[in-house]
Amino acid sequence: SKPEPAIFFILGGSGDLTYRKLIPALYNLFLDDWMPEQFHIIGIGRTAYSNEKYKAHLLEGIHKFSRRKNHIEHWNEFSEHIEYLKMDVEDDQAYQSISKIVQDKEKLFGAHPNVIFYLAVAPQLVPDIAKHLGQLNICADQKCCRIVVEKPFGHDLQSAHELNQLLQSMFDESQIYRIDHYLGKETVQNILAFRFANALFEPIWNRNYIDHIQITAAESVGLEGRNSYYEKAGALRDMVQNHILQLLCMIAMEAPVSFDANEIRNKKVDVLNAIRKIRKEEVQDYAVRGQYGPGWMKGQKVVGYRQEKGVNPESPVETFAAVKFYVDNWRWQGVPFYVRTGKYLHEKTTIIVLQFRPAPHYAFPPEAAETWRPNRLTISIQPNMDIRIRFQAKRPGQKMTLSPVDMVFNYEEAYEDHSPEAYETLLLDIMEGDATLFMRADQVEAAWRVITPILEAWQNRPPVDFPNYAPGTWGPEDAEALIARDGHNWITLPPLHQEHEG
Ligand code: BG6
Repeated sequence: SKPEPAIFFILGGSGDLTYRKLIPALYNLFLDDWMPEQFHIIGIGRTAYSNEKYKAHLLEGIHKFSRRKNHIEHWNEFSEHIEYLKMDVEDDQAYQSISKIVQDKEKLFGAHPNVIFYLAVAPQLVPDIAKHLGQLNICADQKCCRIVVEKPFGHDLQSAHELNQLLQSMFDESQIYRIDHYLGKETVQNILAFRFANALFEPIWNRNYIDHIQITAAESVGLEGRNSYYEKAGALRDMVQNHILQLLCMIAMEAPVSFDANEIRNKKVDVLNAIRKIRKEEVQDYAVRGQYGPGWMKGQKVVGYRQEKGVNPESPVETFAAVKFYVDNWRWQGVPFYVRTGKYLHEKTTIIVLQFRPAPHYAFPPEAAETWRPNRLTISIQPNMDIRIRFQAKRPGQKMTLSPVDMVFNYEEAYEDHSPEAYETLLLDIMEGDATLFMRADQVEAAWRVITPILEAWQNRPPVDFPNYAPGTWGPEDAEALIARDGHNWITLPPLHQEHEG
């Protein structure tokens, strides 16, 4: 069934996220008949737009960024539900227009709609806006209001904690939706189905069978115009604190009893709390940072990070991070989790690799040993969407020769339906009031706690070797050394059907 009537206020309505992601996602939900019977979208921004200009601007975003850029036949019908409100979010009085719109729509809908405030604004504006919204009368009847907060959620543990306190003083936790868009990705959600809807994998999903785990979230793009944000963030804050630790939680969590939002989130928090605290003096053994210099990306010359506009020419900010984590509990004791992420790397790929221990005894002829490899399970999150299990097979022929082969589940081949984009899933969940795929306050803080020692050590000890990797590579050599010390190497997957041993 469709969600209840809803009014969407998008603060930051003239910004990039609205243009690239939010409106295309809402329009796709409309095309798929998931939008409520009655809904209204109000883009709020500082830019002066007439309603018509605003809609034309949004349509341009659909043309550029929607997965259904050619399906604009219902745009007019959809855009009747959109209006633009020019407003200075720092002006106290201006918030009255929001109350007024809610009252008007309530009358029109003849029903009490859910009122959703999506804060697609610069992080420094969030506390002030939240305060104003919390004081509006409509939010006195708490349950119908929802507030959606984008990342970055704080700059460190302290600021995240303060932001949580502020939000919780205005709203009930059940009304706060902290977005981590990775959780909306189909392949990420499928990790839970794969692990907990099958009896086959869970018995071996532990330290007795798994040797180590790798998570790579590599990007081939650079800063994409977000230079000033990135100068304050860096790879650890931008990707590890949120997306990568969430992936790690989904791989490492215990089986939930139900799909209740809090149950899933409890199980994830358990993982974050079990991650071994890296001691200050050990940081260099566990974490590697990198920064790209000038070079070439796919035939294009690119400047180094320190030469980017708005970036300090001696910037210590990392554009690459690799970390080794341990999860100290019964299931994972002693199993390293290697994670890495970076900008301008060789290719865009997000994969999770579970490398199993070797078979306990080798009974084949010695000459077959050369091609004998341990089992491996790979979950490709993007851009390929597949799950591969590598096992040994006998090569056809008179000799017993072993060779690794893959059993593959590929989304595109298996399902004709196109996967919804992460933001489609998340926006629908917000309308339906399902917080399973959103970050709870304690999760965010636990994740900050995990990376705090690294952040502090890096801040106290400025890098001496930056820039230390060239665009188009897999990052600095130290990242190879980090994993090679334990006798492993980073695994990247060639496209299907071309796999050679790596
Ligand atoms: C965002 C980061 O959260 O995730 C960006 O701020 C990054 O720096 C992006 O590029 C990656 O998302 P995706 O969905 O393209 O993997």
